[in-house]
Amino acid sequence: MSVLSVRDLHVTYSTQGGRVPAVRGVNFELERGEVLGLAGESGCGKSTIAHAVLRLLPPGTETSGSVLLGDDDVLSMRAGRLRAVRWTEGAIVFQGAMHALNPVRK
Ligand SMILES: Nc1ncnc2c1ncn2[C@@H]1O[C@H](COP(=O)(O)OP(=O)(O)O)[C@@H](O)[C@H]1O
Ligand SMILES: [Mg+2]
Repeated sequence: MSVLSVRDLHVTYSTQGGRVPAVRGVNFELERGEVLGLAGESGCGKSTIAHAVLRLLPPGTETSGSVLLGDDDVLSMRAGRLRAVRWTEGAIVFQGAMHALNPVRK
């Protein structure tokens, strides 16, 4: 089974100027031991995908599809389960690694 499986992910932000479809129909799988890089121009939706994987998008953002961590769907799991999964089974190191990671630890 994949460690992470993203299926038909759609994310639409809601702004004062209207709806902003940022991710449309993204699919990928990550197997244990694999490294996957997402490359693309600025604004193409890389950060939005990463935030969607841990349901860290702003309130009011529409997300559909499925994000399976093991066999649990992050997009539909209850708050308690989500809290348990965040930073244990899935985590984000935000930009500015010197602030996010302790540089004296291996
Ligand atoms: N909070 C937000 N509200 C509205 N639009 C957003 C928000 N965050 C990102 N976007 C828009 O979503 C699109 C994808 O952005 P983003 O995921 O940050 O791209 P990347 O990380 O690839 O540079 C861009 O058009 C960006 O302007
Ligand atoms: Mg980004």
